[in-house]
Amino acid sequence: MKVLGTVKEVRDQVKRWRARGLSVGLVPTMGFLHEGHGSLISKAVEQNDRVVVSVFVNPTQFGPGEDLEAYPRDMDRDSAYCESLGANVIFHPEPSEMYDPDFTTYVNMEVLSETLCGVTRPIHFRGVCTVCTKLFNIVKPDRAYFGQKDAQQLAIIRRMVRDLNMDLEIVGCPIVREEDGLAKSSRNEYLSPEERQAALILSQSIFLGEKMIAEGEKSAEAVKKAMTEKINTEPLAEIDYVEVVDGVSMQPIDEIKAPALVAIAVKIGRTRLIDNTIVSD
Ligand code: PAJ
Repeated sequence: MKVLGTVKEVRDQVKRWRARGLSVGLVPTMGFLHEGHGSLISKAVEQNDRVVVSVFVNPTQFGPGEDLEAYPRDMDRDSAYCESLGANVIFHPEPSEMYDPDFTTYVNMEVLSETLCGVTRPIHFRGVCTVCTKLFNIVKPDRAYFGQKDAQQLAIIRRMVRDLNMDLEIVGCPIVREEDGLAKSSRNEYLSPEERQAALILSQSIFLGEKMIAEGEKSAEAVKKAMTEKINTEPLAEIDYVEVVDGVSMQPIDEIKAPALVAIAVKIGRTRLIDNTIVSD
C-alpha cells in the first residue's frame, strides 16, 4: 500500500489503474481511523478493484473555535489499518496541496445544510461539499463511501452528486457502535472515563426513540420530548438538538413516517457528539 501526498501522484496512479480497466472506490476520512471507517473501507474493497482512502483533516469544514488543531492524528496506525483491510492507496495531502493561498471557490448547499448540525456549524457543510468535490475530481472514483453516522452529511453528498451531475455512485453504510452502544467516533478520544460513561446517554436516547416508533408512536413531538427528558437525566450532557426530520430534505416533520431521521447532537463536557436512527418501512 502506498501513501501519496500530491494530487498529481494520485491522478497518475488512478490513470494507470484505469488503463487496465480497473474500477476505483474512494473512502474520504479525516483519519484517526476506527472500525466505523473500517466498515466503509471493507465495503469499498469488496465492491471495487482498487481502493483509495483519503486522510485529510479538512480546515474549511471547521468553524472558529472548533477542534481543528486538537483533532486526533495517527498516520502510522491509520496506514497499518488501511493496509490490513486491503486498501491500495492512502491520499494524505498537506492543507497547502488542497488549498492554494488564493483559493476562492466553494460548493455551497442550501436548505439541507441549514437544519440540524448546520444551525450551530454554519460553514461546516460548505467545507464538506467543497472538499468532497475536490476529492471526487482528483480520484474520479466509480463509488464513494459514506457512513450513516453522519446522516446529514450523507444526505447532502447524495443531493450534491445529483444536483451537479457528478458521475459516481454514493454508497451509504450503517452506523458501527461500541459494544455498549456508543457510536464509534474519532472524537470519543476526547472523553475522560467519566464522560465516556455519560456519553452512553446518546445511544440510550436513540434506542428509546426507536422503541417508541417501533411501538407505533407517530408524533415527532412526543418522541423528541421523551428523548430530551432521557438526555437531561445525565448531568454531564448538554443538548444541542433533538430533531425529527425528513430523511431526504432534512426538514423538520410533525408526523413520523419513512424515511424519517431522528437525530441528536449532545455535548458531553466539551465534546460534541452526534447520533441518529433512520425510520424505514
Ligand atoms: P470522518 O469523521 O473521519 O468520517 C469519515 C467517514 O466515516 C464518514 O462518512 C463517516 O460517516 C464515517 N463514519 C464515522 N464513524 C462511523 C461509524 N461509527 N459508523 C459508520 N460510519 C462512520 O466525515 C468526515 O470524516 C469528513 O466530513 C469527510 C467526509 C472526510 C470530509 O472531510
